[in-house]
Amino acid sequence: MASKRVKTGVPGLDEMLQGGLPEGHIVLLMGSFGTGKTTLALQFLMEGLRSGENCIFISLEEDKNSVIKNSDSFGWDLSGPISKKKLGLFKLEPSDAKTTITRIKSELPKFVKSFGAKRVVIDSISLLNMMFTKDSERRANLFNLCQLLRSAGATSILTAEVKDENPRSSRDGLAEYTVDGVLLLQSDENRDSGEVQLTLRVLKMRRTSHSRRVKPYSISDGGVVVHAGAEIF
Ligand SMILES: Nc1ncnc2c1ncn2[C@@H]1O[C@H](COP(=O)(O)OP(=O)(O)OP(=O)(O)O)[C@@H](O)[C@H]1O
Ligand SMILES: [Mg+2]
Repeated sequence: MASKRVKTGVPGLDEMLQGGLPEGHIVLLMGSFGTGKTTLALQFLMEGLRSGENCIFISLEEDKNSVIKNSDSFGWDLSGPISKKKLGLFKLEPSDAKTTITRIKSELPKFVKSFGAKRVVIDSISLLNMMFTKDSERRANLFNLCQLLRSAGATSILTAEVKDENPRSSRDGLAEYTVDGVLLLQSDENRDSGEVQLTLRVLKMRRTSHSRRVKPYSISDGGVVVHAGAEIF
């Protein structure tokens, strides 16, 4: 039986995914800088807030005010849901590895459960992974984190940077195997026109059929829109 869908709130993307992300999935949202990872992740939380779900946004990149301001520029109010305790917005300091690791390991599990979050975003998993010095620790942390998110019953988006030499792989090449789904955002320059085109593709989505086509998307005042009807090739 088809699993229940969680709408991303991104026009076009939900169509590509037969209605949305399968409920409970952990999805890696990969892309190079400026491709709209943070925007898409926030849009996914806004969709949840609109339908009354509690949400958590954990930022390792931008500080709280910057996240709030960016959202404002799309007309998305975060301050209201934060003050009503519908949205938990946290900043973890990548420069303070010791505190960050402690908080991820001990506070996050309690928090995700007590908050009853249906949607969780971690922006970015690449920065979180950098906290650990050994690959084995990175793997173990990622595994535990995914277990925590699954046991909490949340549907989650982890953003990730890509490798310069291989933009189809995340920087540390770890998470794509652990997660249930992988979305790739790319920015390609058309050699003839010199125009930059943003494209999205679904590289992996367990337990569902999905479009494998490359689709153009744009970022405008209302957020990310995938042009699901348009063809690239
Ligand atoms: N209010 C807005 N209206 C239209 N486009 C916007 C708006 N705000 C941002 N953008 C576009 O979105 C891009 C950045 O999106 P975003 O910050 O989500 O990317 P990112 O993938 O998270 O980048 P990074 O890797 O640097 O964190 C900007 O470069 C800009 O092109
Ligand atoms: Mg970002």
